[in-house]
Amino acid sequence: MNIPRIPAMSAAAVAVLFFMIGPRLSAASGTAGDTIVLSAPGGLSRAEVRRRTRALTALGRDMFSDPSLSASGKLACASCHAPDHALGPANALSVQFGGADMRQPGLRAVPSLKYVQIVPQFSEHFYDSEDDSDESVDNGPTGGLTWDGRADRGADQARIPLLSPFEMGNESAGNVVDRALRAGYGERLRTIYGADILGDRKALFDGILEAFEVYEQDEATFYPYSSKYDAYLAGKATLSPAEAHGLELFNDPGKGNCAECHISQRGNDGTPPQFTDYGLIALGVPRNLDIPANRDPAYFDLGLCGPLRTDFRGRTDYCGLFRTPSLRNVATRQTFFHNGAFHSLKKAVEFYARRDTNPEQWYPRRADGTVDKFDDLPAAYQANINTDPPFDRHAGDRPALDDKEIDDIVAFLQTLNDGYVAEQGTARLP
Ligand code: HEC
Ligand code: HEC
Repeated sequence: MNIPRIPAMSAAAVAVLFFMIGPRLSAASGTAGDTIVLSAPGGLSRAEVRRRTRALTALGRDMFSDPSLSASGKLACASCHAPDHALGPANALSVQFGGADMRQPGLRAVPSLKYVQIVPQFSEHFYDSEDDSDESVDNGPTGGLTWDGRADRGADQARIPLLSPFEMGNESAGNVVDRALRAGYGERLRTIYGADILGDRKALFDGILEAFEVYEQDEATFYPYSSKYDAYLAGKATLSPAEAHGLELFNDPGKGNCAECHISQRGNDGTPPQFTDYGLIALGVPRNLDIPANRDPAYFDLGLCGPLRTDFRGRTDYCGLFRTPSLRNVATRQTFFHNGAFHSLKKAVEFYARRDTNPEQWYPRRADGTVDKFDDLPAAYQANINTDPPFDRHAGDRPALDDKEIDDIVAFLQTLNDGYVAEQGTARLP
């Protein structure tokens, strides 16, 4: 089978590329008068750091919505991560299309980029000092960007869509640099990094990647904490009876038990709740035949053990694991889970309540009439699938949540959408 590879540009590859293409640019343009040179020995003053951050943020923001950085000329980061959809997809497609011809299908649902600034680096063994529970408990694989946690920094992550044949479709880092210079970003990169950068294509590519990473730290865009739930925690909003009941069910270990993984309380240091513990977990969501790659019965997206991630190939205990997403802004989405198997939030919540009690509702039947439970994970790995409540039941048992309770959880999840304060026109939150 043909698994589209996401090329990762190694430092060596970039060096070779530089050697091949050479510094075609006429070196520095003019003097470095307004340059915020960054690598000054002895470091930058605070004011310089702020100026640099502002300049990189502005550059990252402009490039984020610039389709001219793609092979098709039609696809920007913002095409998939839409600013008016919490930086998630604006449509209900399971996966998006990209590449030079805009016809190459993706392999996974597009996540929201809100609150990614706080995702910890990937770790196989995570000991949570924030947790009230025993710090010696190993929470297992945790963190990292993307659904399988394979990128630790925003800069590393940004290479993926820029170079993916089914996303922005650049064939090489050099392509990205050429497109960025053609689009006129050279002068801004020079101002930030100094005149020498224009003769150094590897440095130019790294500078472009860093601008995306720095932009993703922009508070107003990425982590405003402006939901009704934030206002509620600050004592500035009251939850409706349905929302309050939904929160109770969300937290109750005997009902939704959602907060076990989607943490709903502030951290010990006062950090607002992120609605994720960043753990990589197998839930066994149904196979989604809308994803063209899944039409090949031999293809499985196994998350942490591959094929997109390559460092844990062969770690069968890691197959099927995907990172727990934040549920902030989840009600703005029309596509849920790593493979976009569900298209309504209610269905996604219902899946938790009824995965094990009513498997026939979610999974196809085999020729012999039996239910092919966990059809998106080969049988050899199905022991990895989580069985914590509400997944601790059996076929025919009563679901942990009834229909009304599911509606209340959905009502609660709607309080996690940013923009509540602005809509209400009340005072700014601290
Ligand atoms: C064609 C659609 C598409 C485009 C264009 C795109 N992305 Fe993404 N993005 C995705 C998908 C799909 C994922 C999940 C990938 C995975 O899990 O392998 C993702 C994941 C991410 C993540 C990790 C989020 C998380 O929760 O871990 C970041 C950060 C990100 N993208 C930033 C960008 C930036 C910056 C650009 C532009 C340079 C961009 N994306 C362009 C589809 C897209
Ligand atoms: C054992 C940990 C765990 C528990 C408990 C849990 N979740 Fe999740 N949740 C996850 C993981 C992991 C994913 C991503 C799985 C995937 O895509 O394969 C996820 C994904 C989701 C999504 C899809 C989000 C998106 O952006 O696509 C929703 C909605 C959700 N969970 C809601 C809930 C609710 C509601 C509850 C309680 C009824 C709950 N979760 C309980 C771990 C958990």
